[in-house]
Order: sequence, then C-alpha cells, then structure tokens
Amino acid sequence: MTQQAIKTTLVTGGSGGLGREMAMQLATQGHDLVITYHSNTNKANEVVAQIEALGRRARALQLDVSQINNLASFNVELKQTLADWGKSGLDYLVNNAGIGIHAPIGNTAEADFDRLMNIHFKGVYFLTENVLLTMNDGGGIVNVSTGLTRFALPGYAAYASMKGAVEVFTKYLAKELGERRIKANLVAPGAIDNEFNAAAFDHNPQIREFIAGQTALGRVGQSTDIGGVVAFLCSEAGAWVNAQRIEASGGMFL
Ligand SMILES: NC(=O)c1ccc[n+]([C@@H]2O[C@H](COP(=O)([O-])OP(=O)(O)OC[C@H]3O[C@@H](n4cnc5c(N)ncnc54)[C@H](OP(=O)(O)O)[C@@H]3O)[C@@H](O)[C@H]2O)c1
Repeated sequence: MTQQAIKTTLVTGGSGGLGREMAMQLATQGHDLVITYHSNTNKANEVVAQIEALGRRARALQLDVSQINNLASFNVELKQTLADWGKSGLDYLVNNAGIGIHAPIGNTAEADFDRLMNIHFKGVYFLTENVLLTMNDGGGIVNVSTGLTRFALPGYAAYASMKGAVEVFTKYLAKELGERRIKANLVAPGAIDNEFNAAAFDHNPQIREFIAGQTALGRVGQSTDIGGVVAFLCSEAGAWVNAQRIEASGGMFL
C-alpha cells in the first residue's frame, strides 16, 4: 500500500476513554493516528505504543482545545508529523475531547458554562477550521455528541446545549465541505461506564441500575461500544453516510 493510500486520522482526546477505543479501532482498520491529550502524557504514550504494536504509525500531541491561541502552533506540529510520515494531508478528524460538568439550571457557575463552551463548542469550531487547512479532499469529520441532546436528564442543560450546537455545526460542515467531498457526521453515545462518569457513578451507584433499566439492551454502555461506530464512518463502507447523527446508546429512553 502507498503512503497516500493509508488513511491518517486525528482523534482529539485519544489518550483515554472513548477516544482511545476510537483510535484503536481506526488503527485496526489500517489508519495511522495522531492522537491528542490534555494532561495525561503517560496514558497518551501507552496508546501510541499500542497502536504501533498493531503495525501502524502513531504520535501523541498535547492540546488544550479551549486555548484557541495555541491552535496555530498545534497546526505546525500536526503538519510536521504528516511531513515526517510522507503524507500530503490528514484524511479524517474526530472531535472527541471533552469533559463533563453536572450543574442544574439555576445553579450553573459562569466559569463552568464558559469551560464547557470553550471545550465543547468554541474549541471544536476553531480546531476544525484550523485542521481543515491540513485536510485532504475526500475525507471526513466525526464530531462526538451525546444522547442528552435527544433526551433530557436534570443537570446536563449547559453540557447538552454545547453538544446541540456541535450538532448544528456538523450539518453546516457537511453542507459547506461537500464541494471538497469531505463528509461530516455525529456519533452520539449514551451513558458510558468510564472515567468521564466515574464521580457520578461512584457517588450514586444506583445510577448504573437506573440507566440499564432505561436502556433497551439492558446495560450501561462501555467505551468499546463506540470506537467501531467512528471507525465505520471513517471507512469506505461508510462513504455515503453524510450529515447524520448516529446514536450509540443501546436504545436509551425509547
Ligand atoms: N462517557 C460518556 O458517558 C459520554 C457519553 C456521551 C458523550 N461523551 C463524549 O465523549 C467524549 C469523550 O469522553 P470520554 O468518556 O472518553 O471522557 P474521558 O475518558 O474523560 O476522556 C476525555 C479525553 O479528553 C481529553 N481532554 C479533556 N479536557 C481537554 C481539553 N481541555 N482539551 C483537549 N483535550 C481534553 C482528555 O485528555 P487527558 O486525559 O490528557 O486529560 C481525554 O483524552 C466527550 O466529548 C464526551 O462529552 C461521553
């Protein structure tokens, strides 16, 4: 296979949780991977080693998606990585990095709102703009949303609203990038039993039972339930899927 035929994909927040599983599934499918991490260098390096063990190339770059001023220097590092690998550009971007903040309406600190907005919406918007400068025509973007944009659970108004904005943004990406044959889709996971929810689940262990009871397939999601969906959207098999919101929740709150 030529270097250009091997797809290259950037997964933000690829150092843990869902992003790690996405990166591993993409590597299994034959992609080279650039993953980003925010603070956990060791976890990121472990993922790089696991991808390399599969025979694919991988590099971890530090990125705080909320720091728009740093995006230009991030792009320089990204371009250097692609040049080192003899690649003309990136084929797929997966906007996955994120945090969760639980705050009921009436008790949402402005700083928490801003943090959610800067990471989940403004960061996704401007990172995408920047990365598009480095993307090959004919690739794709996958944005990660949440089941919480379809159903409402108290405490997630700000978080889910940012994801709602990303859902609208994704539709516009698909429309405006169509002329470059770049697709844009959303994957919306239901509740996943991982680090992201550890504090909430540990604080109230009945949540697992509640979620399982509200899920048609009768259990809480695992990180491994999501990676394959993203890999499909970044494959030839998913080439004609565009501007779609694909919920992977086992059928939550039907
Ligand atoms: N878990 C769920 O139940 C669930 C459900 C629906 C949607 N989602 C969405 O799925 C995505 C991934 O969540 P997850 O469950 O995998 O969470 P996670 O296990 O906590 O992993 C989050 C990832 O994002 C990175 N990150 C955190 N803050 C960042 C920042 N400011 N800039 C750049 N990267 C940052 C982390 O890097 P470090 O480890 O280096 O800090 C880590 O790689 C998020 O967008 C989340 O909203 C999650």
